[in-house]
Amino acid sequence: MIKEDGCSMKISEIVTRRSIRHFISKEVSDENIKGIIEAGMWAPSEHNEQPWRFIVIRGDERKNLVRALKKGIQKNRSEKDAIFGDGYEKYIPAAIYTARILEQAPVIIFVMNGKGQDYHKPRSVAEYLMELTDIESISAAIQNMCLEATARGIGSLWTCNIFFAYDEIKEWIHSDGEMVAAIAFGYTDREVKPLPRKPLESLIEYRGTCIKEKE
Ligand SMILES: Cc1cc2nc3c(=O)[nH]c(=O)nc-3n(C[C@H](O)[C@H](O)[C@H](O)COP(=O)(O)O)c2cc1C
Repeated sequence: MIKEDGCSMKISEIVTRRSIRHFISKEVSDENIKGIIEAGMWAPSEHNEQPWRFIVIRGDERKNLVRALKKGIQKNRSEKDAIFGDGYEKYIPAAIYTARILEQAPVIIFVMNGKGQDYHKPRSVAEYLMELTDIESISAAIQNMCLEATARGIGSLWTCNIFFAYDEIKEWIHSDGEMVAAIAFGYTDREVKPLPRKPLESLIEYRGTCIKEKE
């Protein structure tokens, strides 16, 4: 919302969103799932391309997902088949932790870049830049979804540790396009404290002054 002085915006319920890593078994209704995805599709996208696609994983399918994820993590533990090279072993415990959370979440939504290609395919500079814009659009959709879930009292966790099993999950999910993220949704009975943010002023570089200040 633009404030009356025309120079700044008010931050609202956005700050109440948290990454949720503990879910109770309560299901998320179809109505809520559709509402969350609808919020995603109202995100801006370059040329209104709407590159996003959504795959909803529920029930026993979650076990198959976690199986594929664990297989990929295992592969990355053995140097021979790892898609992540040296220096990435330190992220494996976090990937295992993420697998446990996904195992517990009542619903997981995969967000795919329908226009994208797997990492195996070499890209030209133009393709790389086009892909960047699509990922920007899709990230906006994901954030919309997490905020819509928050507004509905539903917790969310945006995960990219699924990349430890990119090939295994792609094979299992059997869908075209590039895998961008998996978002877990569900209810929690725990209070999650906000994680600290870097000081605002340390992130901003001002150039010029606000027109109002000059008057
Ligand atoms: C692109 C992206 C990938 C993430 N991947 C994971 C993940 O795989 N596992 C996880 O537990 N959290 C993941 N997170 C959540 C971040 O850890 C979290 O957003 C951050 O620590 C700030 O906490 P907050 O979301 O509660 O404000 C991811 C977040 C983003 C935006």
